[in-house]
Amino acid sequence: MRIKNICCIGAGYVGGPTMAVIAQKCPKVKVTVVDINEKRIKQWNNPDVEKIPIYEPGLSEIVKEARGRNLFFSTDVDKAIDEADMIFISVNTPTKTYGIGKGMAADLRYIELCARQIAAVAKTDKIVIEKSTLPVRTAAALRDILDSTGNGVKYQILSNPEFLAEGTAVEDLKNPDRVLIGGEIETEEGREAVDALVNIYASWVPREKILTTNVWSSELSKLTANAFLAQRVSSINAMSELCEKTGADINEVSKAIGMDSRIGSKFLKASVGFGGSCFQKDILNLVYIARTFNLKEVADYWEQVILMNDHQKRRFAANMVQTMYNTVAGKKIAILGWAFKKDTNDTRESAAIYVADYLLNEQAEIVVYDPKVTEEQIYSDLDYLGSRSGDANRQAVTVVDSPYEACEGAHAIAVLTEWDEFKELDWQKLYDQMLKPAFLFDGRRLLESKSKKEIGFEFYAIGN
Ligand code: NAD
Ligand code: UDX
Repeated sequence: MRIKNICCIGAGYVGGPTMAVIAQKCPKVKVTVVDINEKRIKQWNNPDVEKIPIYEPGLSEIVKEARGRNLFFSTDVDKAIDEADMIFISVNTPTKTYGIGKGMAADLRYIELCARQIAAVAKTDKIVIEKSTLPVRTAAALRDILDSTGNGVKYQILSNPEFLAEGTAVEDLKNPDRVLIGGEIETEEGREAVDALVNIYASWVPREKILTTNVWSSELSKLTANAFLAQRVSSINAMSELCEKTGADINEVSKAIGMDSRIGSKFLKASVGFGGSCFQKDILNLVYIARTFNLKEVADYWEQVILMNDHQKRRFAANMVQTMYNTVAGKKIAILGWAFKKDTNDTRESAAIYVADYLLNEQAEIVVYDPKVTEEQIYSDLDYLGSRSGDANRQAVTVVDSPYEACEGAHAIAVLTEWDEFKELDWQKLYDQMLKPAFLFDGRRLLESKSKKEIGFEFYAIGN
């Protein structure tokens, strides 16, 4: 089966970069990324590639190369579905905010809408691919919807979860550790569909890195991978609190255990807490699934990863207040970094939002600097929490374009994202501009401590 036309529904952090790389690596395949969000599609089509809606190192260059050649962004979802041999569903699957499973289960309304739209529009056979992260057995629901039209169109449903991490998306897509494809490998049609997708990836990924499994294993592997990664962060963060009480240093502990080849060195960096759109959502979903099968111990085990993360964010903010003589009311606090990690403009579930909210509840005045996050986004993140009115957020929080402006006259600085540029700041200049004693809280273990203490900062770093 040769694939000529790919459609991807959802032009977000996964759909956009993933399809850009497929288009670059498979120049003979036409790739159309569609979305109902007109503003987002307009941004993807911005003649100035630096203004595409997602910031990822290396992405604008790829879009520049492929856009208009074999990569297209459009709001015409029906047309793209109609023309495609292969349809990726890459829409958002947030945590439910209503009804059964509220606050835990994945909200599958957007996935279902896609399936219904495909069923309504398709006139020729299609391979439909779950690219979004989904609860195990979602493919069965998709099959029900797609097969219920009775119009004779045949569908193959594959699971092809995405493992890219933001900030390194392009590199992860170009050189993935593995590509996972789940399909109905027990039938001939299922195997053909799997092969068709394998062939797309094999244009640039070595065959031995392309893993094929049954659909359920593939769906569950994605949730499992995120749960394991997040668990490592919560584990090291748990130890960071113990380090602070005992005189051990979390960086030294991380290094010592990471050199054990059975443990490995990655994902052992203590922080103010993990953020991002995936970890919390996917673990909550896993916990929910376990609960629906009455697996109480399994559910409780994984839930603890989230509870630990919430604790870490809260304890970082509480420690700031405590250190600053138990009050931050009326004090100016500069937050450096709002994104959930460096090299992305994504702020979903960023620890900075929760730390800022905690400090605002203590009546602090906040000034934020982030090299890639817009003022509009920062206010929208705070407004979404609903802790206070939009006006109150705009009164208490200022967003500025320079770290030096952020820190002028501040009582304290909190480093909440590990942007490289923060290491290179003129820390003496920042110190000179601040009120004394000048507090510096490093939530990322980004800064070298000795020189900061020599300058005169009251320096606090997580896990030290
Ligand atoms: P996103 O919110 O950035 O993008 C999703 C897009 O889908 C939005 O632009 C939305 O408008 C669009 N959409 C929703 N319903 C639609 C419909 N019916 N028709 C057309 N467009 C529609 O989300 P994302 O971060 O790209 O995540 C997408 C999925 O991939 C999620 O399931 C997520 O868990 C998973 N995932 C995300 C990452 C990541 O790093 N962000 C990594 C791996 C997997
Ligand atoms: C994650 C998974 O890594 C990726 O495979 C999946 O496809 C999507 O979810 P992402 O959320 O983009 O990717 O970034 P990741 O690098 O995993 O970081 C998640 C959060 O954990 C960030 O807030 C990061 O700062 C934090 N983190 C990560 C730590 O605090 N310490 C670490 O050692 C690693």
